[in-house]
Amino acid sequence: MTVKPSFPAAVATDAVFLHDVRSGLGAGRKMLSPKYFYDAAGSELFEAITALPEYYPTRTEIGILDERGGEIAALLPEGAALVEFGSGSTAKLRRLLRHLPGLAAYVPVDVSGEFLAEQAATLRQDFPDLTVAPVVADFTQAFILPEAVAMAPRAGFFPGSTVGNFEPAEARTLLERFGEILGPQALLILGVDLVKDSDRLEAAYDDAAGVTAAFNMNLLRRMNRELGADFNLDAFAHRAVFNRDASRIEMHLVARTAQTVRIGGDGFAFEPGETIHTENSYKYTLESFRDLAARAGWRSQKVWTDKEALFSVHVLRRDR
Ligand code: SAH
Ligand code: AVI
Repeated sequence: MTVKPSFPAAVATDAVFLHDVRSGLGAGRKMLSPKYFYDAAGSELFEAITALPEYYPTRTEIGILDERGGEIAALLPEGAALVEFGSGSTAKLRRLLRHLPGLAAYVPVDVSGEFLAEQAATLRQDFPDLTVAPVVADFTQAFILPEAVAMAPRAGFFPGSTVGNFEPAEARTLLERFGEILGPQALLILGVDLVKDSDRLEAAYDDAAGVTAAFNMNLLRRMNRELGADFNLDAFAHRAVFNRDASRIEMHLVARTAQTVRIGGDGFAFEPGETIHTENSYKYTLESFRDLAARAGWRSQKVWTDKEALFSVHVLRRDR
């Protein structure tokens, strides 16, 4: 069955993007939200990252889903609708789908509209009996779920450790919001990257082929393309460092020289070495993530890791 995509005003327009860029680059410590990585080019670059030898999270999580997909699927109520937050490619969903013949609907939610539409079209071709109801929205803002899921019990899927791209306090608010969207006693299946040695983490975010650097730089290209900014890409460098005190990988774009960048009639001055902080990727322990989820109203039902304990998949039950 085909359901028309829903296009609420919940995804950033150029005016909102410009507003966020002005306030982010106008701040004492320049920063931008990682959600702006994901235009069509950014989504393709992220897919390329997932195939890199250094980027262990995707293949490790897929390994866990391949091994535990049957057990996870058995926890979902009959006739459930599955809402995936920040769906990207449907590679992980496909691992669950083979165990979920009775799924009422699949609702991928993503800010990257073009990429989402392509992924939904391919999924419909491959699973013609599945109701696929994509929603282009920023999941940190209010958005409307499609009618296709109105009557079904809902479960959530939030793989990839995208939860780690939020400050812990924001992640808590986000998980509370997901609870409200999914309803009482809902189930949430979630992937969380784990704390490990700095070398492994930093290699995963600064790969030898330079794909993560291109992903980071795409933010500058996007501002040039969509906001008429005049960033000189050669004047910036990619940096990824593990901040162990904060338990997060930080990605920055580092100005190589003193320069002023013009955007929407304003000038933004950079000192040599000054950075735009573009992403945090928080790494948790099983306990620290369970604590965070509990504070957001989610009880741990099950958790699995791979043999090396690189990555974890949690199944949470809403306790309200
Ligand atoms: N779930 C996939 C993709 C992870 S990449 C996986 O596990 O591989 C993060 C995804 O979340 C991207 O597709 C990006 O477009 C989306 N995303 C990031 N911030 C978002 C937001 N605030 N609202 C909706 N989607 C978001
Ligand atoms: C989507 N997110 C969980 C990725 C991560 O690992 O934090 C984004 C990413 N950034 C650089 N590489 C991958």
